[in-house]
Amino acid sequence: MSVIVKGKDISYSYDFGNSAYALRNVDLSIAKGEFVYILGCNGSGKSTLVRHLNALLKLQHGALSVAGFDVANENDMWQLRRICGMVFQNPDNQFVSSVVEEDIAFGLENYEVPRTEIPAKVNAALQVVDMAGYEKRATNSLSGGQKQRIALAGVFALDPEIIIFDEATAMLDPEGRREVLAMMRKLHDVGKTIIAITHYIEEAVHADRVILMHEGAAIASGKPQDILTDVQLLKQAEIMPPMPVRVYYDLLSLGIRLSSCPLTDEELAEKVCALRSKI
Ligand SMILES: Nc1ncnc2c1ncn2[C@@H]1O[C@H](COP(=O)(O)OP(=O)(O)OP(=O)(O)O)[C@@H](O)[C@H]1O
Ligand SMILES: [Mg+2]
Repeated sequence: MSVIVKGKDISYSYDFGNSAYALRNVDLSIAKGEFVYILGCNGSGKSTLVRHLNALLKLQHGALSVAGFDVANENDMWQLRRICGMVFQNPDNQFVSSVVEEDIAFGLENYEVPRTEIPAKVNAALQVVDMAGYEKRATNSLSGGQKQRIALAGVFALDPEIIIFDEATAMLDPEGRREVLAMMRKLHDVGKTIIAITHYIEEAVHADRVILMHEGAAIASGKPQDILTDVQLLKQAEIMPPMPVRVYYDLLSLGIRLSSCPLTDEELAEKVCALRSKI
């Protein structure tokens, strides 16, 4: 698999070293088409790291290339922002127009896509996020999940290779979260590289890989099954393990051993049922 994001020794300080570093010597490698979650407690440097990828923050130390572009090269900044789209926590802050189709068209106009091509691209983007028919709707008349899907359509319309979700589900109710998570999986299925940040650890269980951050450093990287069941490591990162993992260890402390440590609710239910059949 080819590497699409390659970072080496990235350090960053918001006040040029006068206080603690927000990033400390981070190495990063993400394969094209990979679905990666970055997890870490508040202030661990997740947003600071991903904001380097599309040059929202200027590289201070180390090296970083994204889709073949050196992020330190300011001439490539706009190209980089197109290749590496970003969806943030609050959809209301991302809209530039109050009408759905105008909002999606805005990014395309910015990138000087010929006017005649814009309506087809807007329609295609709305289809991908299951929002066809909402072209004329006011953005403020949509639910939280629908707003995030429109924000995502605006990013998707620019045909990015990488889409970053920085806590894009944080403000949504369970239904809205499900909608956005489904879109993330769909975009991954069509070949996009997905980088997601969340405090809902259970969202990360189906990722290809999890990167753990703590105090500005990337302290671990691996499969969800390995990282999210490692309670010592999660403790070091000041993150609460997923509920099924906590139940597994609680049961173990009572002398009850499940066949292996479950990650999802379904796996937990299955293993508890298997236990029952042995009694
Ligand atoms: N604009 C800023 N100015 C000064 N310091 C900042 C700024 N943004 C972040 N920081 C600091 O940099 C460090 C890393 O912050 P960052 O926002 O990257 O963390 P995070 O992991 O995304 O946290 P959260 O989960 O709360 O979003 C923190 O100590 C934070 O206080
Ligand atoms: Mg953040």
